[in-house]
Amino acid sequence: MKGIILAGGLGTRMYPSTLVCSKQILSVYDKPLIYYSLSTLMLAGITQILIISTPRDLKIFEELFGDGSQIGISLSYVVQNFPRGIAEAFIIGDEFIDKQSVCLVLGDNIFYGHGFPKILMNAAKQKSGATIFGCHVSNPFDFGVVEFDSLGNAIGIEEKPKQPKSNYAVSGLYFYDNGVVDIAKSIKPSKRGELEITCVNNIYLSQKKMKVELLGRGLTWFDTGNHRAMLEAANFVEAVQTRQDLYIGCIEEVAFRKGLITRDVLLGHAQKMKSTEYGRYLYKIADTKL
Ligand code: DAU
Repeated sequence: MKGIILAGGLGTRMYPSTLVCSKQILSVYDKPLIYYSLSTLMLAGITQILIISTPRDLKIFEELFGDGSQIGISLSYVVQNFPRGIAEAFIIGDEFIDKQSVCLVLGDNIFYGHGFPKILMNAAKQKSGATIFGCHVSNPFDFGVVEFDSLGNAIGIEEKPKQPKSNYAVSGLYFYDNGVVDIAKSIKPSKRGELEITCVNNIYLSQKKMKVELLGRGLTWFDTGNHRAMLEAANFVEAVQTRQDLYIGCIEEVAFRKGLITRDVLLGHAQKMKSTEYGRYLYKIADTKL
């Protein structure tokens, strides 16, 4: 399975912070926002990843991560010239995806919780169809929202409905079989001029090829759509990391625990960041069995 991080967009909801740089490079507590979505893909066992961003911002991600070998993965990069919609990722990524299945994560989504790596690994194993994740939220009108029938089966998804049919928002993490490329190429832009991911998801739903997995109370999801959401996410990360001494979105730790890098490579990362808590955490991880 291939992975795509969509890290473009105009960032206008984050002005003035994003007037000259990408939102996904901004810090959420102690690391750039994009670390969280990269770690999500790595936890799913995905090691071939494409980062899509704007002509202005792509080079900063290339500078940050290079070819990915320092964390044992393979990274490539491609520009999205204009934010024509989330589903455009599959058209831009067509060549990269090739004949494989693909997982797309939005570069501004953060996931954390008990059993999440297992959920990811299971979704990544699927041979056909798609899996998306529904999360209970207080503001469903800001998202794609799942509609259920009386038996609790998902029957439709509405993008930012004025009157949401449930409190379950579709998170920005999507697993698809290879058919997604042709589906993305077949859809037309919505009224707001975007190739909507919700349109793709409704096609999978209508073909009865979509699994909507509801994430329960043990899982936390943040869409860091504005400054307040960024601060809430940062406070959450700080609280968990300080209380538990277990980091969220630490890509070097994930790489080490997954056997993608050796202890020596991990120690190299730790050395580079030794004057930070992040670096000291990496030293600890190098000597931790569990
Ligand atoms: O976060 C989950 C939600 O993401 C879903 O519930 C919605 O169904 C889905 O449409 C999307 O809604 P958003 O309002 O969050 O989408 P937004 O336009 O803010 O784009 C999400 C991220 O993707 C953002 O960081 C910018 C980036 N992006 C977006 C578009 C449309 C791109 O890189 N390129 C694009 O063309």
